[in-house]
Amino acid sequence: MQFVIQGGKPLQGEVAIGGAKNGAFPLMAAALLTGQSTTLHNIPDIADIRNMIELVTALGVEVSFANHTLKIHARQLTSHELKRDISKRLRASIELTAPVLVRLGKVVFPHPGGCVIGERPIDLFLDGYQKMGAISSVIEEMHELSMERPKAITFVFPSMSTTATMCLMMLGTIADGTTTLINCACEPEISMLADFLNQAGANVSGAGSPTITIEGIEKYPDREIAFSNIPDRVETGSFLFLAAATKGHLTLTHTNPSHQAVVLDLLARMGVTTTITADTIEIFPPDVMKAVSVKTHEYPGFATDLQSPLIIALTQANGKSIVHETVFEGRMFWLEDLKRMGAHVMILDTHRGSIEGPSKLKGKELKSPDLRAGMAYIIAGLVAKGKTTIHDVEIIDRGYEGIEEKLKALGADIKRVS
Ligand code: EPZ
Repeated sequence: MQFVIQGGKPLQGEVAIGGAKNGAFPLMAAALLTGQSTTLHNIPDIADIRNMIELVTALGVEVSFANHTLKIHARQLTSHELKRDISKRLRASIELTAPVLVRLGKVVFPHPGGCVIGERPIDLFLDGYQKMGAISSVIEEMHELSMERPKAITFVFPSMSTTATMCLMMLGTIADGTTTLINCACEPEISMLADFLNQAGANVSGAGSPTITIEGIEKYPDREIAFSNIPDRVETGSFLFLAAATKGHLTLTHTNPSHQAVVLDLLARMGVTTTITADTIEIFPPDVMKAVSVKTHEYPGFATDLQSPLIIALTQANGKSIVHETVFEGRMFWLEDLKRMGAHVMILDTHRGSIEGPSKLKGKELKSPDLRAGMAYIIAGLVAKGKTTIHDVEIIDRGYEGIEEKLKALGADIKRVS
């Protein structure tokens, strides 16, 4: 599947932001943990959600999904093994290890895959699980964990991990005592997960800060849960940098500006004007953008997932920037293809790239290396003069629902061709 883009068209109008991809996954995992009849709203209809639904269904869970609402009731789990083919290419699959381990006392799973942006180790998960009482082994390339009831512990993360924080938090809710997690990731998706777990009957405090304290409960009460997923802050940021790069006048709706403090501040430093309400962000076309240098950082810092869309905007800004990718070690290589489009970019090392703008981009044939670089290529194609063809767009479909329809509604000339 490919996208064919004729660039250079002015973009303007409204775009509705979908539910958070990386928020929907932990909500689904938590629904397995509690076993309660759960209705989740604002769930994006993207390939990775459908993959997660397939994983969860294979564990014996009833799931229905329509109109961005997902109903899930894990009365019981009938398997402790995660489907290998899907788990190997979906990092979020590891979030299911916590509920399966708690419910069945055992979980078997492959090393989780995901975007090729670095090695993606799982040592923090295994360390935390073992300290909470799990026995861990590897049999024929499959990780095998078994445990009785999780032990309440104090665990210090040597480095911040979004999904590892989520998994140990889920285990802690059912441990026998007080669990304290130190040096936790602070993403809004983690705060949301804690809100969900507390609504289900848990006692989690401190989520969103580096220290989370959890008073374990015996078991989750039998109750109905309805819960709304937060907006996708990465889709929001992607459209903000798309507007800046293409000098488009866009209004983003159904979003949450409070998750974008660093992004909005960065745009202001680049000379881009935005106005916000409780759930909208309007971005005005900049006449001249100033180059700024950025270091990615765990939330609330500048998100690593927005590094590639930002870089396209920086190719259109006046001056030289250095972007330092501190979270992943393999997330700069896509700049080689951007250089072929005429951008003045250079890979300084596996963590840093330099950008000099403004540069005229020419349409090219490209291949999506990972989800977020694939989105960056779309933005580059919209900026470039001439035709850009992007191959393997299934990778982009993993994280952006109906992206070409949203762009066409803004005036873009983009077609999906098989
Ligand atoms: C989550 O990945 C997101 N994915 C990523 O989004 C996002 O880029 C990342 O968090 C950082 O915000 C999902 O939520 C499904 P980490 P995750 O654990 O949890 C190292 C996208 O495009 N680490 O916070 O895998 C790791 O290698 C995706 O939507 C260990 O060393 O990221 C990385 O350098 C891409 N050992 C750093 O920590 C571990 O056991 C942060 O990783 C786990 C992680």
